[in-house]
Amino acid sequence: MRPERPNRFLWLAAPVLAAATPAAVQSASEAARSPETIFASRCAYCHDDGGWGTRALARRMPEGEAALLDRVNLPPAYTAFVVRRGIGAMPQFTPAELTDEELEALANWLEDRN
Ligand code: HEC
Repeated sequence: MRPERPNRFLWLAAPVLAAATPAAVQSASEAARSPETIFASRCAYCHDDGGWGTRALARRMPEGEAALLDRVNLPPAYTAFVVRRGIGAMPQFTPAELTDEELEALANWLEDRN
């Protein structure tokens, strides 16, 4: 029997790779969005006052620190970890949604606010 199967699998994967690549290249070449813009579009609907994330965090954070913008102890490395991995009910964010550069700036911005 000739080894045809591996080639078939490659052909099956090709459209997936072709579809994924332009998006990744495009987002990497776009100018980085500001932390304010990203927070407003990607985080605020859960982490605003009264948002789902804020209500979840109110169960285990001191009073007045459930909203991320009110936090006084949010190390950037922790924020970056949580955003990439997800935590509890919070979804993870991929580099296509938020580049490493944008995530670093966002995490530093969240820490520097307080
Ligand atoms: C769909 C809702 C949702 C979105 C969108 C979301 N989060 Fe969350 N986030 C949550 C929830 C819920 C929790 C609490 C999870 C738990 O502890 O059970 C959380 C927790 C966190 C924590 C952990 C805080 C702690 O003290 O442990 C950080 C940091 C965080 N989110 C940052 C972000 C950032 C930055 C963004 C935007 C890039 C974001 N989140 C977007 C729902 C969300």
